[in-house]
Amino acid sequence: MVTKPTATATLDRLCVELEAASYPILIGSDWLPSVAEEIRAVGADASHVMLVCDAAIRETLLPPIAQSLHAAGLRVDQCEVPSGEPSKSVEQLSRLWQWMLECRADRRSVVIAVGGGVVGDLAGFAAASYQRGIRLVQIPTTLLAQVDSSVGGKTGINLPAAKNMVGAFWQPMLVAIDTRTLETLPSREYTSGLAEVIKYGVIDRPDFFAWLEANAGGLVARDAGVLRETIRQCCQAKADVVADDQRETSGRRAILNYGHTFAHAIEATAGYGKWLHGEAVAIGMQMAMTLAVQRGMVPAETLERQQRLLEAVGLPIRWSEADPAALFAAMQSDKKNEHGRLKLILPTRIGEVRFLEGVGEQEIEAAIEACR
Ligand SMILES: NC(=O)c1ccc[n+]([C@@H]2O[C@H](COP(=O)([O-])OP(=O)(O)OC[C@H]3O[C@@H](n4cnc5c(N)ncnc54)[C@H](O)[C@@H]3O)[C@@H](O)[C@H]2O)c1
Ligand SMILES: [Zn+2]
Repeated sequence: MVTKPTATATLDRLCVELEAASYPILIGSDWLPSVAEEIRAVGADASHVMLVCDAAIRETLLPPIAQSLHAAGLRVDQCEVPSGEPSKSVEQLSRLWQWMLECRADRRSVVIAVGGGVVGDLAGFAAASYQRGIRLVQIPTTLLAQVDSSVGGKTGINLPAAKNMVGAFWQPMLVAIDTRTLETLPSREYTSGLAEVIKYGVIDRPDFFAWLEANAGGLVARDAGVLRETIRQCCQAKADVVADDQRETSGRRAILNYGHTFAHAIEATAGYGKWLHGEAVAIGMQMAMTLAVQRGMVPAETLERQQRLLEAVGLPIRWSEADPAALFAAMQSDKKNEHGRLKLILPTRIGEVRFLEGVGEQEIEAAIEACR
């Protein structure tokens, strides 16, 4: 007799190696109806789960997850968070704490974040802080969350004037990725996530970059096989960097910020909402690599290669209204700077970057000017 493989038998299984805090990342398609099995496998003593879900996907993506958990005999509570960045707030955090108290959460409870980076960061921080930390599972449902924010343990909220200013490192016990959740993701959100995908190629993975060039069509079409391989490669790249530098102390983890000093300044000066994060990262990577070309660190062909791939997947590569002086001013207040010195991550080739400090204003503004 031939037995049908179970949904979880075909998963890709990666591991974020952090000694006692190590955890699996599971990647597959259409397997969330069996997610309870995997949660049980890493948290055998869990008796209660608290699902925190983005409002936009409550009716579509949440029911099979909740059903799976009920069927496994767990006590299940659910709570919904309004979609969008403003939910990464003290108000929503406090609402979650109050709700967790009402749910009688204890040491055998697990928070499960179902949504994009907003819900992952918010619910993650609620888990990190409630009773000084209870267990967390990430079920990311945007491309950005699947390739970036759900892995690595950064959680937190925004203050009215400062993004991601309050938070904690709190590693999940499991990251459960189902590529089918991306089918409903709006096209602009999806494309925006691809900027982080391309970023991994430029900073660390030359073969992956070449693979992306060859598979750009499949990426745009959200081809299931291409997507799964893409997410696997990105999670592995992020897991490796995080394992080397869990709390961003050695500098290794900072390579993930390639293009981001420019991007944060683009987001801030354009007014939040004009560019999605990944779109700003795409333009920021172009600015960073333009600067590297101007300094003679990489040949112009390398910049053209990055530009071609960004364009092939539909990302912007310039911002005609960029104000170089305003962008430079915003870059100087970036929280990644050390003692006020601007620190940039610039490529030396596809697959390798290095840090550069003390780059002058004129040089930076010239690179911005070239991307207008
Ligand atoms: N913790 C980290 O390491 C880290 C890394 C990068 C970014 N972030 C944070 O992540 C956040 C951005 O995350 P994001 O881009 O996922 O944004 P998001 O969470 O706001 O999701 C984007 C939009 O997609 C909707 N959505 C989510 N899943 C969907 C689905 N499957 N189908 C249809 N719609 C869906 C949401 O309602 C929202 O409108 C930012 O707050 C950023 O600071 C954190
Ligand atoms: Zn980013």
